[in-house]
Amino acid sequence: MMNPMTRRSFAALTGGLLASAKVFAQAQTQPQAPLITRAIPRGGERIPAVGLGTASIFSQDSPATRDKASAVVQALVKQGGRLIDTASSYGDAESVLGAVISAAGLRGKLFIATKLESPDPQELKRSLARLKTASVDLLQLHNVSDKQQSLQPFRDWQQQGLCRYVGITSTFRGDYPAIEAVLQREKPDFVQIDYSIDNRAAEKTILPLAADVGAGVLTALPYGRGRLFRAVQDKALPDWARVFADSWGQFFLKYLLGDPRVTAVIPGTGNPGHMADNAAAMRGPLPDAGQRQRMVDFIKVF
Ligand SMILES: NC(=O)c1ccc[n+]([C@@H]2O[C@H](COP(=O)([O-])OP(=O)(O)OC[C@H]3O[C@@H](n4cnc5c(N)ncnc54)[C@H](OP(=O)(O)O)[C@@H]3O)[C@@H](O)[C@H]2O)c1
Repeated sequence: MMNPMTRRSFAALTGGLLASAKVFAQAQTQPQAPLITRAIPRGGERIPAVGLGTASIFSQDSPATRDKASAVVQALVKQGGRLIDTASSYGDAESVLGAVISAAGLRGKLFIATKLESPDPQELKRSLARLKTASVDLLQLHNVSDKQQSLQPFRDWQQQGLCRYVGITSTFRGDYPAIEAVLQREKPDFVQIDYSIDNRAAEKTILPLAADVGAGVLTALPYGRGRLFRAVQDKALPDWARVFADSWGQFFLKYLLGDPRVTAVIPGTGNPGHMADNAAAMRGPLPDAGQRQRMVDFIKVF
């Protein structure tokens, strides 16, 4: 997806930047800066803009997994985060989260999003039991692939107080037409879609439609399942980016948060240090349109 970087293009992009080395001093993540929150379009409730994704991270329940999950959730909350995204299909993740969250008494501090494979009341019952909660904050229909899929059962459950918001998800380009049709017709409260600095198809398709129908946007795969870190593993963060980012993680997340249509990003991690790094992207300045273009151009050369 990224082109090989030439010495010339790298020099062109970084040339003259040494002169801006003084921006190092202004750093960037600013722990005392206010938390970046975003309003959920339907209703205006604000949620912190960086959450935690749990696909494949907590999928095998064990004491070690619970310890890891506990440390990651604590790191999220310590930095002011609230949003955790999981799914009934992520192995044991719901059970691990339910155990960890209830043991720490954190349910009231969290915004829990889960996903069902189909509008099956038994599947919902199982998710609520595993998460040890009477209701979730967001219930999403996972991997929408058919234009005719209905959210009516989810709306009924919303009426019954089993979820506060309803949503749909996909990370498959071939299913975007289905996502668009369901967004248009059902007007869910959220759409969760794959979006990262090197995978920007959603910018032109899903994000404008989400804005039109008043749906919040959660970005799945913000690091392309770690692909972005592998691409920059031997590259230094450019000086000009240090105005708004202290790490590559923050660079990638702040690119996404620089789009006001994005409600929250949900990077996956089983590492509390990475969780703290990700959550730090919720503070300090965000890149403007010009800086975002420069970020894309910079990443393209790798
Ligand atoms: N169809 C759908 O609805 C759908 C599909 C896919 C994903 N999702 C959602 O999107 C979430 C995110 O996707 P993902 O977890 O697959 O991929 P991702 O967030 O794009 O990337 C996760 C990878 O990045 C690494 N990482 C995270 N923070 C880092 C940091 N600060 N520094 C260095 N490495 C870091 C993680 O390793 P470490 O564990 O070592 O930190 C992991 O290898 C999922 O968890 C899930 O909630 C939804």
